[in-house]
Amino acid sequence: MIKIAPSILAADVLNLERDARRMMDAGADWLHVDVMDAHFVHNLAYSPEVVRRLKQIATVPLDVHLMMDQPGRYLDAFLDAGADVLTIHTEIGGDISAMLDRIRRRGAKAGLALKPGTGISAALPFMDQADLILTMTVEPGFGGQKLNETVLDKIADLRNRGYEGEIEADGGIKETNLSRLIEKGLSVAVMGTALYRAEEPGEMIGRLHQMG
Ligand code: DX5
Ligand code: ZN
Repeated sequence: MIKIAPSILAADVLNLERDARRMMDAGADWLHVDVMDAHFVHNLAYSPEVVRRLKQIATVPLDVHLMMDQPGRYLDAFLDAGADVLTIHTEIGGDISAMLDRIRRRGAKAGLALKPGTGISAALPFMDQADLILTMTVEPGFGGQKLNETVLDKIADLRNRGYEGEIEADGGIKETNLSRLIEKGLSVAVMGTALYRAEEPGEMIGRLHQMG
């Protein structure tokens, strides 16, 4: 069954606890936490302290997406805070392999993310070291953008090359386009705007779970 990971970037920052609980009560499988450093992307978002506090109320895994230039400096802080899945981007350079290993050695799932313009060749050398590959379906930085359809083939390509870990997509996912992603081999869908704007997120997640 497809896992649904609501992105707290779309939550009300004055009511993060309420909004996180609302999504868990609605049947969320994971909670997705975006971290932005105002350099890798032109936006700033959540710190390890936010992850630490969310961990105290979380009944599902915390899926932390590091959109930052030097994630190596912060891996331990996010792992100490309670990240269950910790994802770094391929575009940062640095020793990706060592960072993925470090995440795994600490008992978390290691994720590797690709921007829409980055081909899967950037991820192939690390397929055995990544528990999850995140294919961004929008340019990272902001919620509420439109899904880039050209990314769909990357998901199919990864599956055709035998990748059996989680494949996650992030950005612009709605009830109307999710089934196409699942057909390609998606296993985790990050959803911000669509879920947080839904009148009945529980009913929506119920329908999404039926899709595959
Ligand atoms: C984009 C973020 C996404 C975003 C998804 O950089 O990584 O998690 O919050 O939100 P929607 O579903 O609104 O595109
Ligand atoms: Zn994200």
